[in-house]
Amino acid sequence: MHPLLATHAAEAARRLTPDVHRYFAGGAGDQVSLDEAERAWSQLRLRPRVLRDVATVETGLELLGTALATPVLCGPAAAHGLAHPEGEVATARGVAEAGSLMVLSTRSSVAIDEVRAPGPWWWQAYVVLDHGLTRERAARAADAGARAVVLTGDVPYLGARHGATRLDLTGRPDPRDRQDPSIGLEAIDLLARASGGLPVLVKGVLRGDDALACLDAGAAGVVVSNHGGRQLDRAAATAEVLAEVVDAVDGRAPVLVDGGLRSGLDVLCALALGADAVLLARPVLWALAVGGADGVRDCLGAVTEELRHCMGLAGCSRLADIGPDLLHRRP
Ligand code: LAC
Repeated sequence: MHPLLATHAAEAARRLTPDVHRYFAGGAGDQVSLDEAERAWSQLRLRPRVLRDVATVETGLELLGTALATPVLCGPAAAHGLAHPEGEVATARGVAEAGSLMVLSTRSSVAIDEVRAPGPWWWQAYVVLDHGLTRERAARAADAGARAVVLTGDVPYLGARHGATRLDLTGRPDPRDRQDPSIGLEAIDLLARASGGLPVLVKGVLRGDDALACLDAGAAGVVVSNHGGRQLDRAAATAEVLAEVVDAVDGRAPVLVDGGLRSGLDVLCALALGADAVLLARPVLWALAVGGADGVRDCLGAVTEELRHCMGLAGCSRLADIGPDLLHRRP
């Protein structure tokens, strides 16, 4: 883990109320997936290249038409207002200062059109029981400047959050606003239309066949994710299934990944497995709780700088140089 992320995590655990900390930090069931996520990245081994010119190392990329300074993005998480009084407004500022991209949660503390992110952002969608409400939100997100929609596919029902990890975020939840467990692949088209044609990525994909089904149904990309270990416990670690999804997608669309990425070295491994970009969520929440917008900027910046350093050590001067040949397959 990058030392700054460790410091933020420890300090956030002291500052946040126990309920809020458990809500953000916790996972589902016995937390097997939660516990495995970070370790799975550290199981990978590398075979760096030597004698490549790495005097300049670039971390920039273009993702669905948006130029970014870093492939380390801010993943969606509910209720940033629980971490910082400015909520998603502060997060968005920090993310923009890092040259990154923010995925804004449906369950944000600040209303979609009040975040006014100074940088590029995507909107994370739940299709809720009232589809009209979902359409209206997607249209608002598009009007407010979202450049893509990220449909969460792994929450037909909330995972088994034991203890206080199942925080009641809204006071008295509106029954119309619960996730619709009956949706299928047509939800991709619903969101594309409602947003006036924004690209729709599907998040929560852990299988090659699902990735292909999503692309065939019109998805513009997939996010390999087990929802931070918060949905089906014992769901496989993303580090272990990413390669299968990348193989299935075969370059047709971007593949992103989240889950337990805590350092630039983890990011290098994810990119070597074929991810186009990665998402960090809990580290951003801890950084937000500790340092507001500056904390978020420093968190994403530190992981990006560490990625740059590791790229240099691996003999890669651009993201395009990072490929599966960097991974060591143990005998
Ligand atoms: C969660 C939902 C809100 O994981 O995404 O808590």
